[in-house]
Amino acid sequence: MSTGLGVRNPEVPKEQITVNPNTGQKTVRMGDLEFPPRKVWMKTFGCQMNYHDSERILSHLTDLNFTRTDKVDDADMVLFNTCAIRDLSNNKFYSQLGEMKHAKKKKEDLVVGIGGCVAQTEGKELVKKYKHLDFAFGTDVIDQINDMVFRTYSGDNKFTINSWDRSENFSIETKITHGSPQAFVNIIKGCNKYCTYCIVPYTRGKERSRKKAEVIEDVRKLVEYQGIQEVTLLGQNVNSYGHDNGETLSELIMGLEEINGLQLIRYTTSHPYDVSDELIAVHGTSKKLSNHLHLPVQSGSDGVLKRMHREYTIEHYLGLLEKLRKSNPNIVLSTDIIAGFVNETDEEHRMTLDLLDKAQYDFIYSYAYSMRNNTRASKMEDLLTDDIRGERLREIQKYQLGIQAKIREKLVGNQYRILVEGYGNMGGVKKWRGRTNCNRIVHFLPSSDEQDLQWNWVDVKVTSATALSCQGDLLEVHGRRYPTSK
Ligand code: 5AD
Ligand code: SF4
Repeated sequence: MSTGLGVRNPEVPKEQITVNPNTGQKTVRMGDLEFPPRKVWMKTFGCQMNYHDSERILSHLTDLNFTRTDKVDDADMVLFNTCAIRDLSNNKFYSQLGEMKHAKKKKEDLVVGIGGCVAQTEGKELVKKYKHLDFAFGTDVIDQINDMVFRTYSGDNKFTINSWDRSENFSIETKITHGSPQAFVNIIKGCNKYCTYCIVPYTRGKERSRKKAEVIEDVRKLVEYQGIQEVTLLGQNVNSYGHDNGETLSELIMGLEEINGLQLIRYTTSHPYDVSDELIAVHGTSKKLSNHLHLPVQSGSDGVLKRMHREYTIEHYLGLLEKLRKSNPNIVLSTDIIAGFVNETDEEHRMTLDLLDKAQYDFIYSYAYSMRNNTRASKMEDLLTDDIRGERLREIQKYQLGIQAKIREKLVGNQYRILVEGYGNMGGVKKWRGRTNCNRIVHFLPSSDEQDLQWNWVDVKVTSATALSCQGDLLEVHGRRYPTSK
């Protein structure tokens, strides 16, 4: 029986890994083929689901003696994990794939593969079209990656595998190759919503949820053995979680809450139609659920929502925000907006600006509508021009920044406990940054240049805040484990 993202072919030999106890040298064989140490360079486009899939791919590849490299010139194998959601990410991928032609001229045995959403729908044509592309694999066969790499190194390249995993259960264990205390845990794959603009149901297939007990056990192990303190539950529509098994997201969250050592639970991304009263209540009662919810609205006009097949009205949506804020007064909300959907009128566009006023989002992701082949919206006659879409997008972004600046101003003086995620150079000064429970990034100066705060829990006080960035003062460093006493 299949479990996870694709059944491995039983006829392909399995990895045999031996480690020389004296030298530490790892030898890997699959059948007659030896896999010497090699380097893989991987480029991921798109959403967190793709980053999660990339982690999984890399984790499998370590069994074939691959290590990751940041330098494409050092790579023996180059993999692209692609995104099809909008033209922009698509275009970036195509130009980078094109450049690989020259890389392969320089290094003849370079292997080039593509995975993800573009590979799912267009893999076959791309393998035919690009001579330097060895293989393509879809979103549901990730767990077969080593079989595919074996096949390529055996001399059988130029193939595409984009079949759907039709097994009843969807059961994958989280694989992590990094040393951070944050993990993304896939709880549901696919989407049955078929919003008229969206390609995801075609690239990710039908919804399938993991069993609640399995997810809880997976997270328990991550916390116990891999030092994970924060999990983000992932899915294209996590609110539909469990519909196929008679389980719910609220029950899952309350189950995860019991895990000792787990500090923070986030989930993304949600569809307003499936936000239940039970889930809203959990936002009030759970001690570990983040004070942040990303709830994509897409448009402020009922007419547009109808054409998008979003299955809710603005009145219903605003009712949800009100209930969520009542349930958890500290909740911070964000959303996705599509500017200039097919035939959007000026009035419909203004309704979106009006919604931004009413919803008071902490931040938004906004995009110009991008026509995707085969979606229902692609078959609607569209009178709107890209120039108008662009103008509307800029107007939405500017309008939201005004709202955001006012919300953020009020944060000055607040104290937050944050998990430090890294540092950067801000105006020539080294500043660390961390994420609050409610998903805001705060930048702050360390006590000294040498101080290493990576993955520490620290307390900060916000000293200044604009629409786009929050600066703070470091108050206290708690170390890498969340302090239990405070
Ligand atoms: N055009 C523009 N934006 C899109 N999104 C999804 N499909 C499209 C499209 N065809 C946006 C939606 C979704 C986010 C992940 O991407 O806002 O919530
Ligand atoms: Fe796409 Fe709609 Fe599914 Fe989200 S809910 S993945 S926008 S079809």
